[in-house]
Amino acid sequence: MPRTPYIAANWKMNKTVAEAAEFIDALLPRIAATQHDVVVCPPFTALHEVVERRRGTAVRVAAQNMHFEESGAFTGEVSAPMLVELDVEAVVLGHSERRQFFGETDEALAKKVPAALAADLEPILCVGESEAARDAGQTDEVLERQLRADLAEVADEDVAKVVVAYEPIWAIGTGKVATPEQAQEACAFIRDVLRARGAAADDVRILYGGSVKPGNAAELLALPDVDGALVGGAALVAEDFAAIVEAA
Ligand code: 13P
Repeated sequence: MPRTPYIAANWKMNKTVAEAAEFIDALLPRIAATQHDVVVCPPFTALHEVVERRRGTAVRVAAQNMHFEESGAFTGEVSAPMLVELDVEAVVLGHSERRQFFGETDEALAKKVPAALAADLEPILCVGESEAARDAGQTDEVLERQLRADLAEVADEDVAKVVVAYEPIWAIGTGKVATPEQAQEACAFIRDVLRARGAAADDVRILYGGSVKPGNAAELLALPDVDGALVGGAALVAEDFAAIVEAA
């Protein structure tokens, strides 16, 4: 079975409810015919609006983070059941900005990924190396360490329910996109690591993220092990995001 292309818009800390509504209204007619998985990841405050506006369409909705516990004294956090109640279908976990600025650890991710799966939320697990790690020739080592740690508590037969996003930190928001060779090599390596641990690796969707734009999307998305894109900046403009969906 070929893997269905998966194109996700990570809005990060952008868009009010009104701006989110405007985006969805502009996006829907542009992607009405797509057969791809199209996912929008708004901030928590706009989740409800986006869920309601996309009802009856192919667009799916993901949160950008969640806590691994279902409830409790965790001020400022949101749990999987709270997202599910809103009809959110997926959740981004381990984005490098959360690892870098908010202390997200592999230990927490090892609990978050199974918690998302248990709640029927599709985890979009982000992994990726820093520029220093790449320069030191440690890209594979970093990716393998993150995958092993973050998926440690996921059963082999459940790994294919996880979407993995390869996001080299040096390519995020920098305009410095990975070359097709770098993206293919890293995504193929990720698939090999998943296969080695006993997962149905050929069924796992592996996305590339980092300065994806309408102009470079087709080349990246044509790579054999790149099954989609996790798009930041270019996903804030409905026309640009639609163009990336179309390029897949
Ligand atoms: P940019 O597309 O802005 O580089 O961001 C990528 C990203 O971090 C998506 O999660």
